[in-house]
Amino acid sequence: MAVDIVTDNNAVINEGCITIGRLAPDFVASSTHGVVTMSQFRGKWVLFFSQPGDFTPVSETELISFTQLYHEFEKRNVQLLGITIDSTLADIEWLMDISMRTGITVPFPLLSDRNAEIANLYNMVNPDRVYEESVRDLFIINPDGKIRAIQTYPVSCGRNTYELLRLIDSLQLTEVHNLYTPANWMPGEPVIVPPPHTLEGAMQRIKGESELPIKCSSWYLCFRDYNSINDNNQNNGTNQDNASAQKNKKNK
Ligand code: BEZ
Repeated sequence: MAVDIVTDNNAVINEGCITIGRLAPDFVASSTHGVVTMSQFRGKWVLFFSQPGDFTPVSETELISFTQLYHEFEKRNVQLLGITIDSTLADIEWLMDISMRTGITVPFPLLSDRNAEIANLYNMVNPDRVYEESVRDLFIINPDGKIRAIQTYPVSCGRNTYELLRLIDSLQLTEVHNLYTPANWMPGEPVIVPPPHTLEGAMQRIKGESELPIKCSSWYLCFRDYNSINDNNQNNGTNQDNASAQKNKKNK
């Protein structure tokens, strides 16, 4: 059960609350790839997403899209994990059906959560929810097991897998280089250097005395050339694949 706790600055927070920065709760689950735990994926990024059920149209398009971009997720060290409330046997039946109709074999595990225990652990079960409403939850978890992003979509709208790759690129840039990304950023484009936390730092930026090669439109909004970031050669390749994949898709 969730317990309220009071922090040092008197904020009341819910100990069981699932939010960015908290550790992703561990669990053991049956899946189409055998028994899996969340903690076994420490050292990798995890994209953990729920779907309302097997043999559902929008969810099938999501599985196909995740499969088509599987190598892009792999390049970024991301483990995909889907979860439904159906049984593993039903999940297997669904994946076999997709494979026979489309020739596409889903290469990542689908977890079974028959009693909604994992859904409760991750606060996916909102008491106001009814079946067929708001049941596409998604968590991006870093290699230390911490939640870095959370997304909830309605059942009616399939998620944008290209946007998820873009979000992962941004999260990885922040994790490794402490850089932020502006609205609609795509890999290769300038990135934002976080604002200074001291008056001295702000003054340095105004006087153009920053140690970093930055271009500023104000003391708090400064950009850095993506290609000037250390050891980004590998990322350049992979991330720009996403940018060109999206452009190719638009041109089709
Ligand atoms: C779907 O994923 O398409 C779906 C899920 C639950 C109810 C209706 C549709």
